[in-house]
Amino acid sequence: MANLEKRELLYEGKAKKVYLTSEDDKLIQEFKDDATAFDGMKKGTIGNKGEINNAISSYLFEYLENYHIPTHFIEKISSNEMVVKKLQIIPIEVVMRNVAAGSLCTRYKIPEATIMEYPILEYYLKNDELHDPMINEYHAYAFGHATPDEVRAINRIASKVNAILKFFFDRRNLILVDFKLEFGKRNNEIYLADEISPDTCRIWDKKTHKKLDKDRFRHDMGGVEKAYLELRDRIINA
Ligand code: ADP
Ligand code: TMP
Ligand code: ASP
Repeated sequence: MANLEKRELLYEGKAKKVYLTSEDDKLIQEFKDDATAFDGMKKGTIGNKGEINNAISSYLFEYLENYHIPTHFIEKISSNEMVVKKLQIIPIEVVMRNVAAGSLCTRYKIPEATIMEYPILEYYLKNDELHDPMINEYHAYAFGHATPDEVRAINRIASKVNAILKFFFDRRNLILVDFKLEFGKRNNEIYLADEISPDTCRIWDKKTHKKLDKDRFRHDMGGVEKAYLELRDRIINA
């Protein structure tokens, strides 16, 4: 990537900035320290989050590529930037759950930490104004966001990612409680996009159930940066 130049800002989101580059098919994702929750209603910063999430995300995308998961990841080029394939993002948040937490507990009145007998796959429309309403695959077809073949590809990749990462975290004495994925298209191929980080996953210590993710920020639990750093070290230096 020695010659790749960062060009104009394409999009600024809540947690990242996305830049065009000197190559049409590549973007640079810059991870910010800004943190939001509840569709941007709660705002703050988490020290060093940009660097931590870029490190974790780059590591996990590379790990998944080894298992033949197609991801947008190309290369980590600085502490808080990665080069990715430019995709047409499908505006659906795909959530996988292994253990009950968050909105699953409130929606279905299930006690937190209940182990699911089978992983749950959910889809939410990516739309902060509408508070990311839950949808099913028929909404995705009807709204023109994805075809049945594309949804099948997404489901297959999401299940594979879950199986791979569940074992990955288990070996580090961590529980992969749940996580959110985004997907994009290019030339009729589906790729895993965006990020995989403590902003988009719930991860607990196996023994103590200590939360090492954005729930510490969402619910003002304190020790947010320390938890992110601990998670990075347990992922990368294992
Ligand atoms: P949000 O838009 O939810 O505030 P971010 O702050 O994380 O999210 O901004 C990053 C944006 O870049 C997201 O909207 C995400 O869908 C989009 N994105 C992620 N990966 C790619 C990619 N490979 N190509 C194009 N856009 C991407
Ligand atoms: P939920 O329990 O709030 O529905 O969240 C499920 C998972 O998805 C959890 O790991 C956090 C992640 N998530 C996001 O990454 N972005 C979001 O906007 C939301 C609501 C959840
Ligand atoms: N990502 C969403 C937001 O920034 C919600 C969340 O993660 O809790 O508002």
